Amino acid sequence: FAQAAPFKIGFILPMTGQSASTGRQIEAAAKLYMAQNGATVAGRKIELIIKDDAGVADSTRRLAQELVVNDKVDVLAGFGLTPLAMATAPIATQAKVPMVVTAAATSVITTASPYIVRTSFTLPQAAVAMGEWAGKNKIKKVVTLVTDYAPGIDAEKFFKSQFQLNGGEIVAEIRSPLKSPDFAPFLQKVRDAKPDAVFVFLPSGQGAAFMKQFAERGLDKSGIKLIGTGDITDDDQLNDMGDVALGVVTAQHYSASHNSPMNKKFVQSFEAANKFRPNFMAVAGYDGMRVIYKALEATKGKGGGDDLLAAMKGQVFESPRGPVMIDAQTRDVVHDIYIRKVERVGGQLWNQEFDVQKAVKDPGKLGA
Ligand code: DHB
Repeated sequence: FAQAAPFKIGFILPMTGQSASTGRQIEAAAKLYMAQNGATVAGRKIELIIKDDAGVADSTRRLAQELVVNDKVDVLAGFGLTPLAMATAPIATQAKVPMVVTAAATSVITTASPYIVRTSFTLPQAAVAMGEWAGKNKIKKVVTLVTDYAPGIDAEKFFKSQFQLNGGEIVAEIRSPLKSPDFAPFLQKVRDAKPDAVFVFLPSGQGAAFMKQFAERGLDKSGIKLIGTGDITDDDQLNDMGDVALGVVTAQHYSASHNSPMNKKFVQSFEAANKFRPNFMAVAGYDGMRVIYKALEATKGKGGGDDLLAAMKGQVFESPRGPVMIDAQTRDVVHDIYIRKVERVGGQLWNQEFDVQKAVKDPGKLGA
């Protein structure tokens, strides 16, 4: 009776470079999931392979090729930035290997390959919720400030259209570079435009530097309210941001302070194992593992790209973020979007959820 071959999950993540916190968070979460749920599924030993692409698309593509051809992985996973996911999509399609996106969040990603399933989020989900909240909460004039690449453009576009629908006016649209940004000149432009609020999207890892410059330039005392997608008050860095973050309102699908028994257990176990707080990248990695485990179970350990993919579509489950569904048509994540405000509770800074939109599908795919 031959031993069944291990089931290989090949994560490609930025473990070094500007987006290293994304890799660190997702690796920690994937390992926590395995520690809690066992390293054997339907008789197959789970083998986690982690490769560092340093956030460089050429490396992601090469590593994906190697994982598929040499390691013969059963699933590809990870993808810390949109260009890295887009670079890998054709490889997943050609190899018929499911590609579980646990970070990158531009709407279009899931359309790049029928083998992509996403457990992270989409920028339009959060941006639309924020546009509506701002319009309904006495904010009339807004400057948008986003990182100049695909998810930033998604955030800008979807915030703008929903905010305008709710009676708001966009007075300036500013984009800052992805690489090593200096926010000072852009913050000066925000100041000069004298809006009621500035709506900001930055990728995970840049929030603390932004907040520091926001305070240094006195914008926190200027009467210009700071709002955004939850990427700017990222739980990975939030607790070190200081008073400048207090009162910042964002929309997102995950807060480490989400009030559910499952999340309390998740945060507690995660912090015990890692000495840092899980963020929205961690929860996507954790849920990505869940989707893979259940798919392997559904195939009774057989695996196979098409059968795994079929078993990933339509999964409904409780996540530390709240209820989640993988939309069978779009293969994208459907989840609740919370409106949160940063508050100090028990001596620490948290994104405190105070409103919710239930079961939000990606607005980027509603044919608008
Ligand atoms: C993307 C990366 C992030 O770190 C983030 O917070 C949102 C989106 C991306 O590149 O898709």
